[in-house]
Amino acid sequence: MVVGFCVGEISLTELTFISDKMPQVGEYVTVDYDGKKVLGMVENLVRGNDALNIDLHDVDAIQTIARIGGNDYYIKGKVKLLGDVNDNLRLPRTPALPGTPIKLADKEILNEVFQVKNPIRLGTLVNQSDIEVNVEGNPILNRHLAILAMTGAGKSNTVAVLMDQLLSYSVPIFVFDMHGEYRDADFPNGDVNVIQPKINPVYMSIQEIRRLVSIPNSAVIQERFFRRAFNKAQSMVSGATAHTSNFLQLIVDILTKEADFDEEGNVGANVDKRIVDVINKVEDAMDKYGNLFDNNKGNILTGIKIGQVNVLDLSQTDESVAEVLVSHILRNALQRRKNYFHGGSDKTLDHPVFFVIEEAHILAPNKRDSQSKHWIQRVAREGRKFGLGLCLVSQSPKTVDHDALSQMNNMIILRLVEPEDQRHVQSASESLSKDLINQLPSLNVGEAIVLGLMSKVPTLVKIDEFKGRRTGGDLDIIGDLADFNKAEEEEIRRQERESLDLGYDY
Ligand SMILES: Nc1ncnc2c1ncn2[C@@H]1O[C@H](COP(=O)(O)OP(=O)(O)O)[C@@H](O)[C@H]1O
Ligand SMILES: [Mg+2]
Repeated sequence: MVVGFCVGEISLTELTFISDKMPQVGEYVTVDYDGKKVLGMVENLVRGNDALNIDLHDVDAIQTIARIGGNDYYIKGKVKLLGDVNDNLRLPRTPALPGTPIKLADKEILNEVFQVKNPIRLGTLVNQSDIEVNVEGNPILNRHLAILAMTGAGKSNTVAVLMDQLLSYSVPIFVFDMHGEYRDADFPNGDVNVIQPKINPVYMSIQEIRRLVSIPNSAVIQERFFRRAFNKAQSMVSGATAHTSNFLQLIVDILTKEADFDEEGNVGANVDKRIVDVINKVEDAMDKYGNLFDNNKGNILTGIKIGQVNVLDLSQTDESVAEVLVSHILRNALQRRKNYFHGGSDKTLDHPVFFVIEEAHILAPNKRDSQSKHWIQRVAREGRKFGLGLCLVSQSPKTVDHDALSQMNNMIILRLVEPEDQRHVQSASESLSKDLINQLPSLNVGEAIVLGLMSKVPTLVKIDEFKGRRTGGDLDIIGDLADFNKAEEEEIRRQERESLDLGYDY
């Protein structure tokens, strides 16, 4: 079906058309010329009327013209050209001629476009529910993915759909579950393996422990005491029994010995008093983070199960602990994958991992430095060489680290209204055009712009509704309160009955 005709100057990447029909934004069209069949996407539509142009200022005149010629409108649209269907979707070298007809793309062509290797089904086209949208698996795992949208737009649903599809390829998935949404989830294609947020301090880096012991960068003397004790403790515990020693207690013991206390508890004559601060801080941390530390635990990565959704439940931990866990796990994963490929140590991780990080703006904030951000950036940059994939999820894209975001070579962007968020996302993704950005506020729940290496063309997708079960959708507050009131009334009536049985009278 012809939907319009090219007009004006036509480039190799974009054309303008005039039409008397109303195509839809996001719809695919084809332009036939010079033996080519060039696929494009309608990105922008306006309606105008030559008789009612912007220079008219007389309200009476406008009403008169509208009465007699109000239906003489035209539709002007912009098409982003995506490539020649007959030539592997490469962009043509010559532009179309003005006057060339624009047709809606045939179903066969679209089915071909969404037929990919190792397909991950995300949903259907927003404008054509009979066309299935599949994206390619490997580019997601290799080149990372960002899922961005305002709250309630459908990020977690998308994550669940994606994870379930990846399970069908036995991908080991590791979710940092900030809200406890996935620990009780049910996936049609695989099991959930809940991993406890516990670390054996013996496997922590000095920076990770320091974050919890809260020795500030400016406290140079404290830092030096701590560093020396940490290094000494490490050299003492290396070997087979490392993972059963109480590493933090060992640090305290080393510091206590060094403090050389006399009988009144004063530090020795030649020792700086600030060593006491360090001892207190380590002991405080042992108290405060008692739930996090587990001196009998092996490395947390050894708990990952292949072909399952491995869920690290962070809903009960505070932010500083979440940061330490993320940094600890990503650092170890990268190190162990390097060892696996290059040898040098038997501490290896023998399989790839796909990490899902919700609340990415907290764990990789744009303005502040943090350990977790550092390791998210490292995995974003280097992970591809070692089979470590990242999926960053956020409802506040503008506060997600720009560096990390621009390493996400795939994006699923659902409804996103705030201009600042839109600008930040656009600057991190070259394939997101201004016209597509403009569509973001008008998307409905579950509708997304999908782009990047996983897809041959940018796509407007209605994401499938997740078939399994997950928690964390909106609460039914009114319903819950009604139940609550009913239960109260029941209870009052029960008490009344009891009282009557006992012979009291009201
Ligand atoms: N693709 C979809 N199809 C149908 N319902 C959806 C879809 N995406 C989201 N929803 C519904 O919208 C609500 C919010 O979705 P959710 O994924 O929790 O949003 P977010 O994580 O972005 O805050 C949920 O109740 C969910 O069931
Ligand atoms: Mg969510």
